[in-house]
Amino acid sequence: MRTFAALALSLAFASVAFALNCNGHTELCDRKYSNVTFLGTHNSPFVGVLPADNQLETVTQQLSGGIRYLTAQTHDKDGAIELCHTSCILLDVGLLQDYLKDIKTWMDGNPNEVVTLLLTNQDAIDINKFADAFKAVGLDAYAYAPGADLAMNDWPTLGTMVSNKKRLVVFMDYHADTSKVPWILDEFKYYFETPFDTTDENFAQCTLDRPQGASADGRMYIVNHFLDIEIFPGVLIPNLADAGKTNSMTSILAQTDLCYTQYKRTPNVVLLDFASIGDEMKAQDDLNNLG
Ligand SMILES: *[C@@H]1O[C@H](CO)[C@@H](O)[C@H](O)[C@H]1NC(C)=O
Repeated sequence: MRTFAALALSLAFASVAFALNCNGHTELCDRKYSNVTFLGTHNSPFVGVLPADNQLETVTQQLSGGIRYLTAQTHDKDGAIELCHTSCILLDVGLLQDYLKDIKTWMDGNPNEVVTLLLTNQDAIDINKFADAFKAVGLDAYAYAPGADLAMNDWPTLGTMVSNKKRLVVFMDYHADTSKVPWILDEFKYYFETPFDTTDENFAQCTLDRPQGASADGRMYIVNHFLDIEIFPGVLIPNLADAGKTNSMTSILAQTDLCYTQYKRTPNVVLLDFASIGDEMKAQDDLNNLG
């Protein structure tokens, strides 16, 4: 009888401990989404070693490796939403919907993980078409809709997002419209970003680049910590050769320290190219004050 009770008790504890684990750490369950730092993959779908590629691992591998913040560039190709780099002639890795399906599959199998997807929409594709792509694979079911614009302190904790099963946060740089799709959020309402496409290997700035002229106050922020190299005058490509150095603790923390000095809070997101190289998960733990 006593053995049974002990067993039941330990099972109860085991399930509580399981339920309280968010993104790999119990400590993160009590932290507001807006108070967590995520190391993310810039242009997550462009996988390979060609000049238009930004990552070496597939999105599923990125997620399995610990990345919880994904960015993806979308373009209109003959009425379909495709993942293209600058233009679909330069690099086209296929339908947004197929990429979303991979994320859905991964999230189904990992119920304690909060994932963010930041989409670009330079071609001003109708927001309802984006919603259709999510719905086609069932990923909309996980999408978090705040209901009204959130102040930075109003974000739910990761624990709440996990227990409510609303643990996918979707942002879009331009042309979001929450009156039509309440769970695709306007990136620049919530964030500011530092400059991107830098060729300064020291990342010796933490300047507010976009939205231009906006205030840093009340906004989370994204640090673009990926390095380009100029191969011809005006032609920049991701710097794969130096990725080990760029993605090292030393390089990441040097820039985030600068940011902390400037804004008195840690960045919410640090975006990397070739994120499978380097110390990104260690840097993430460090920035979140996790041992
Ligand atoms: C989270 O809050 C702590 C305490 O105020 C702060 O030091 C840290 O910079 C915050 N992190 C983020 C990502 O906002």
